[in-house]
Amino acid sequence: MTNTSTYPNTDIPPTYGNWKTFFLVPQNVIVTGGAGYIGSHIIYTLLKTHKYKVISIDNYHNSFPAALARVSELALSELKASLPLNTEPSERDLDSITIDIHETDLLLNPSGVRSIFSSYLSTNGIWGVIHLSAYKAVGESSSIPLTYYANNVSATISLLQIMQEFRCYRLIYSSSATVYGAVEEVPIKETTERQIEGRIQVNGEREGSVYGRTKVMCELIVEDLCESSALAGSPTPFQAISLRYFNPAGAHPSGYIGEHPRGRPENLLPLLAHMAVGTVKDPVLKVFGNDYPTPDGTCVRDYLHILDLAAGHVIALQALEEGSELNKTIFPGDTTESGSTITMETGDKGMKRGTKFKAYNLGKGHGMSVLQIVGAMKTATGFDYKTEVVGRRRGDVPELVANPALAQAELGFNAPLDLETMCRDLWNWQEKNPTGYE
Ligand SMILES: NC(=O)c1ccc[n+]([C@@H]2O[C@H](COP(=O)([O-])OP(=O)(O)OC[C@H]3O[C@@H](n4cnc5c(N)ncnc54)[C@H](O)[C@@H]3O)[C@@H](O)[C@H]2O)c1
Repeated sequence: MTNTSTYPNTDIPPTYGNWKTFFLVPQNVIVTGGAGYIGSHIIYTLLKTHKYKVISIDNYHNSFPAALARVSELALSELKASLPLNTEPSERDLDSITIDIHETDLLLNPSGVRSIFSSYLSTNGIWGVIHLSAYKAVGESSSIPLTYYANNVSATISLLQIMQEFRCYRLIYSSSATVYGAVEEVPIKETTERQIEGRIQVNGEREGSVYGRTKVMCELIVEDLCESSALAGSPTPFQAISLRYFNPAGAHPSGYIGEHPRGRPENLLPLLAHMAVGTVKDPVLKVFGNDYPTPDGTCVRDYLHILDLAAGHVIALQALEEGSELNKTIFPGDTTESGSTITMETGDKGMKRGTKFKAYNLGKGHGMSVLQIVGAMKTATGFDYKTEVVGRRRGDVPELVANPALAQAELGFNAPLDLETMCRDLWNWQEKNPTGYE
C-alpha cells in the first residue's frame, strides 16, 4: 500500500461522535464533467471533507460512469479505515460520501439541468458549481471550431442562466494556462493579458487555438456576469473563481482512479503511459518541434499532481463562503485592486462593491520539457521510449510555466508533489488498469 501521508490532506474527520458537525447541513455542490479525469479526483477530494453533497453531471462523452463508482468505493474504504475498530459508518457519514449521479448533456439538455437544480430546492438548493465539462483537444478544436464553441461556450452560458434562475451564485470555473497564448514573460502571472485574437506568426498561422479561445471567452462571460451583478447592487452578488490549470498529471496513489480518455490519449504523459503498457503501439514518440527557444528546444510545461490540483478546488470552494476569512482575503472589499478583482463604485445608497471575480494560476512554478518528461516516464516505467522529432504542432506555444504566487499567498495553495510521484502514480494506475475503466 502506498504511503499517502505526503498527499494533500483535505480531510475533515467523519461526523461520528462529533455533534458540532452532525447538525451541519451539507452544501449541495454540482460538479459538471464529474466523471472526467480532473472531475473524478475533485469529487474524491470533496467527499473526503464530508462537508458537501456532491452532484455529478456528465454525458460520458469522454469518460465512464465506472469512474464515479470507483470514487465512491475509494471514499467508502477510506471512511471505514478512519473509524474506530468495530464501528460502522453512520447514515450521515455514508450520505456524505454518496455521489448523486446525473447523466445529462449540459449543452443539449438544459431542461434536464434545470430539473436537477429544481430537485434540490427542498434541501437548500445548489450552493455552488464547479464547472469542468468541456472539450479539450487543442488540435481537434481548430478542425471543428463550432463544436468547441457550442460545447464549451454555449453550454457555459446556458449553465450560468440556470444558476441565475435558481439563485445559485458561486462558481469555480475550470480554465487553462492556454488563455495566455504565447507569452513573452515566464513564469506567467495572472495579470498577463489573455490572448483571444492570437497574433499571426511568421508561418501565417494564428497563435493559440480555438480551445484556448473558448476558455478566454468563458472567463470573460463569467467576469461580466460577476460585474453586472455587483453593479446592480445585488445583495448576493455572483462570485466566481477561475482556476487556470497548468498541466495536471498522475493519479490517485491507490491506482483505483486515474485518467481514461475515450480514444487515443492526446496529452503527453497519458500517451507515454499507454505506450509503456502496450495499448498504444506507436514505435516512436513524435516530438513536435525541437527548435523552440527553450533549453533543449522542446516545449516546456508546468506539471502538477492531480491531487494537488483537486485540493486547490476545495480551497477555492471554501473561499466562496461569504464571511469566511478566505472570502475576505480574496475579495477584500471596496477599494483594493489586486489580481483580476475589479472594484468599482456602485449600488444604491452610493455603496461601493467590488466585482467578485478572481483568477488564479494552479501550477508548481517549474517547467519540464518534453524530453525531461520522457526521461521521467522511462525511469517510472522502465520502458525504452524511442523519439522522433517532427514539425511543430499547430496551436502549441513554447513555454507555459505558472507564477503561482497569488494562489499561494491568497488561497494558501501549494503543489508539493513532484514529477517522480506524478509519473509513479500514473504508471501505477496504468499498469493496474491497462484498459482504464473498461
Ligand atoms: N486535463 C488538462 O490537462 C487540462 C488543463 C487545463 C484545463 N483543463 C480543463 O479542465 C476541465 C476538465 O478536464 P479533464 O482533463 O478532466 O477532461 P475530461 O474530458 O476527462 O473531462 C471532461 C468531462 O466533461 C464531460 N462533458 C463534456 N461535454 C459535456 C456536456 N456537454 N455535458 C455533460 N458533460 C460533458 C466529459 O464526458 C468528461 O467527463 C476541462 O474544462 C478542461 O478544459 C484540463
